Amino acid sequence: MRKPQHHDRTSLPHQLRYALRHPRRIVPHLRRRLRDRRLERQTGGDHVAYYRAVMRHDTAHNPEAAVGSATHDRWLALGRMQYDYLLRHGLSTGDRFLEIGCGNLRAGRLVIAHLEPGAYHGVDISPEILLAAQDTLAREGLQDKRPYLTLVRDLRLTHLPDASFDVVHAHSVFSHTPVEIIDECLAHVGRVLAPDGFFDFTYNRTEGPEHQVLREDFYYRTDTLLALARSHGLEARAMADWDELPHKQSKIRVTHRS
Ligand SMILES: C[S@@+](CC[C@H](N)C(=O)[O-])C[C@H]1O[C@@H](n2cnc3c(N)ncnc32)[C@H](O)[C@@H]1O
Repeated sequence: MRKPQHHDRTSLPHQLRYALRHPRRIVPHLRRRLRDRRLERQTGGDHVAYYRAVMRHDTAHNPEAAVGSATHDRWLALGRMQYDYLLRHGLSTGDRFLEIGCGNLRAGRLVIAHLEPGAYHGVDISPEILLAAQDTLAREGLQDKRPYLTLVRDLRLTHLPDASFDVVHAHSVFSHTPVEIIDECLAHVGRVLAPDGFFDFTYNRTEGPEHQVLREDFYYRTDTLLALARSHGLEARAMADWDELPHKQSKIRVTHRS
């Protein structure tokens, strides 16, 4: 499947074309824009504080929508798509797994069920979505798997031990973060990644200028992110088989240099 993010969504012609094609989305978009402006003012330019406030607001309304799924069926399907992909790439029951931006365990619930007890670590900046993650665990009867769910304020991963994860996963997280946060994560993820481990992350790909919309959605060129990973001494490659799947984002895999 060819990924569609080839336009600068902030350009006026794109916005006019979009508004004409989707007139019903104009009012919700303007509401979101006003809400985001207010939250941005309140959080004084700190992106993590801002996005945490966005998540608080969205999770109070509906945790599944807060992680980007318009319906429960979509929530189930997108979790399943992530999980099946990991299985195809060799996720085994003995792996130790770190999920960055775990949300309410859309894929995490399936990964947790698959792994040994204590092998899953989820981190997120949003207390409200971590509470929703606990609800998912209880609903799915996964208590005996004893996953760790941790609130973080940054992606330095300081509370985690060296070389301790075979798989690190960040789905639909860097699509919501400025490049400084991706850089921070790439600067530190190598320390916690096992020698043969991999770190998969998705991102909104653009082939035009990099841009962001409402500081909620960020669009990057693949080469920018590959170069960023390499600048931290890691290998990185685009995952073409993910692009075959019906999902708007692209995926990059990061490993240690061989
Ligand atoms: C679109 S949701 C995806 C959640 C989960 N990965 C999934 O696929 O269901 C993005 C999640 O990333 C979290 N997040 C956003 N920025 C983050 C950051 N800088 N560090 C950690 N988590 C972050 C949000 O709170 C939210 O739970």
